[in-house]
Amino acid sequence: MSPSTDEVSTPGSAPSSEQKRALASFNPFDPAVQAQPFEYNDRLVAEAPVYREANTGLILVSSHALVNQVLCDHETFSNRFMLMMGGGAKAKVPDAVAEVMKGGYPPVDTMLTADPPEQRRFRSLVNKGFSLRRVSALAPRIEALTQELIDGFAAEGRVELRSKFAVPLPLTVIAEQLGVPRADLEKFKKWSDGFVAQLGGMASPEEQVEAWKLIVEFQKYFEKVLKDRAENPQADILSAVVNAKVEGEAPLDIAECLSILQQLLVAGNETTASSICHGMRLLVEDPEQRALLRAEPERIPNAVEEILRLSTPTANMWRVCIQDTELGGVEIPKGSAMLVRYSAANRDPAIFPDPHRFDVTRANAGEQLAFGAGVHFCLGAQLARMEMAKAFEALLERLPNPRIAQGSPPPEYPPNILLRGMTTLPLEFDPA
Ligand code: HEM
Repeated sequence: MSPSTDEVSTPGSAPSSEQKRALASFNPFDPAVQAQPFEYNDRLVAEAPVYREANTGLILVSSHALVNQVLCDHETFSNRFMLMMGGGAKAKVPDAVAEVMKGGYPPVDTMLTADPPEQRRFRSLVNKGFSLRRVSALAPRIEALTQELIDGFAAEGRVELRSKFAVPLPLTVIAEQLGVPRADLEKFKKWSDGFVAQLGGMASPEEQVEAWKLIVEFQKYFEKVLKDRAENPQADILSAVVNAKVEGEAPLDIAECLSILQQLLVAGNETTASSICHGMRLLVEDPEQRALLRAEPERIPNAVEEILRLSTPTANMWRVCIQDTELGGVEIPKGSAMLVRYSAANRDPAIFPDPHRFDVTRANAGEQLAFGAGVHFCLGAQLARMEMAKAFEALLERLPNPRIAQGSPPPEYPPNILLRGMTTLPLEFDPA
């Protein structure tokens, strides 16, 4: 068992007290801090679990207990954060962006960016598409896809795992469930990347125009597919969503369906791909843990929880405080913008002893908050868990003696305030 890679390879390891820099000298928008948030997170959890960030005035929430408290109190901490970020249904947008938007459907705040009771209506309709029965039925297809993707590189003894496996696996699964043929997968990925960039809250007006062009293209594409599925339902998630009926709830209209599809596209791709890369890197660098999982594959589900804990692909999420309150002894005025730091909560030593250590046998790994909690708990958690488990099972089985490719640079993490991905994962292994 070894400390997690991130911890050793970076300024992530706890500094001695004389080296300590002032908390105010960290900036959560600094790409270096986003890439390696661990020193900052440790300090926040220990010294200021509710902290008014000096540069931006944002309230950062970091300890496991307080993050959980915020997530479970949607009456005080709202998910209607798109307005604050220049997006969402009622946002004022630059003229050039408005011009592009005219060509498509207006944005609607649905699940992630809505609060109950509206959020509950969307969620209860969409839950039908993600029932345990429906997700379990996908297991054989996910298994077949993992094998097919590995067949593509097993004989070569090397692979860039992100582009050849971690991205196409969840992308193909969700694309098939949304009725997108293989030939259109590239387009699908481009739309997903566009949404991710916009969600990061760091897009310039020019980038927003580009993002909206993609969104309109996406809307036009799915407008047709949605109409088709309404008339000719098939055995996929899309048909279940379009045709979902819940007692007392109005069915979804096209603009609402499009907003939901957009969330599924983003949430289902980038995060799952990142967790597969982070997890494989942890396993490659820890032969002892890898051998344990190969000998006892029944431990893989717990390893998935531990990997989610350490990788936390959704590193942060926004909230807006909608009534004057107090949290962890700190006054929070109505209207405050907040950043909930899942990545800090998942390494809180009060819950996870020796928190930076990778331990697939950790008894309480399942207490990780990588999927959130409360009413916005991840809709795709069961699907993501299944994709990860099948991925690690197949990769450990079929890539003997895996190692980081010789001479490859340290991993890079694209700047994004919410999602912590990994750009590439070049591996070598003994060819089949
Ligand atoms: C490892 C992979 C994943 C991670 C780490 C992850 C993480 C999260 C987190 C932290 C939230 C809560 C956000 C909040 O508190 O406001 C969330 C919500 C959500 N996730 Fe995931 N997710 C993953 C995979 C998926 C997949 C595969 C799908 C669907 C295909 C999905 C769909 C959603 C949706 C629709 C929501 C919003 C739910 C709501 O607001 O009611 N996610 N996810």
